[in-house]
Amino acid sequence: MTTFCILNWKSYPASADDIRPLCGVLASWREVVSSGTIIICPPTTLIDDTQACKKEDARLASVVVGAQYLDADAKTGGLTPAMLRASGATAALIGHSDRRTQSGETNADVRAAWQQAVAHDILPIVCVGQHAPDASFAELREQVCGAFEGASATDIAQCVIAYEPVWAISTTPGARVEEPQDIVRAIQVIRETLQGAQPHAVLYGGSVTGATVGSVLGSGVVDGVLVGRASASPESLKELLDALTPFFS
Ligand code: PGA
Repeated sequence: MTTFCILNWKSYPASADDIRPLCGVLASWREVVSSGTIIICPPTTLIDDTQACKKEDARLASVVVGAQYLDADAKTGGLTPAMLRASGATAALIGHSDRRTQSGETNADVRAAWQQAVAHDILPIVCVGQHAPDASFAELREQVCGAFEGASATDIAQCVIAYEPVWAISTTPGARVEEPQDIVRAIQVIRETLQGAQPHAVLYGGSVTGATVGSVLGSGVVDGVLVGRASASPESLKELLDALTPFFS
């Protein structure tokens, strides 16, 4: 299994000038670490500029450019799979908690979006995660069931699932990375809920940094990480990538 690192730049970079240094740090790292799967999810307005950085630097050739969301249907402000494909992007976050909370995305929206993504040959990265610690994991189970209702094992094998507990996401006040044993339990719950179907990969996201990525991947139950804030400044991105190096050999 390849190791994944998703760089979710959120809306931190505002212009092409902001992303060039990030691409430079990534290119230097890719010069020495060329294995694994790196997916950049820039702001929608910077997808073309990210593609341009990739074209200009051969060291970034294997890096995938994706989107931070995807809509199954056309709507004002929407981003459909056809639009995304036309931009050259081939992956998308779907059902990120920001979108579920702020844009009212439902499990049915998430389901329709990943189905459309697969139909357009876009890798869906389906995000799930409960709002508060809960020993029963009721919300997590409900999200996984809702997102994959009616899905076959073949469908699920085409999706990456990113487990992101909302309280651990860095924009939540007091956020901190979840403890490895709690990550292990949550991933067990996701796998139980999928009843034996194997996703393409299972990732963890939420306050991952260069200082914490070792303990997350050391939990042994995830295939990679989804990183927001720490991926969006050249200094913290370099720290993150340096800490990831042993996991990409
Ligand atoms: P964070 O974001 O790494 O800034 O916590 C993760 C995410 O929201 O995808």
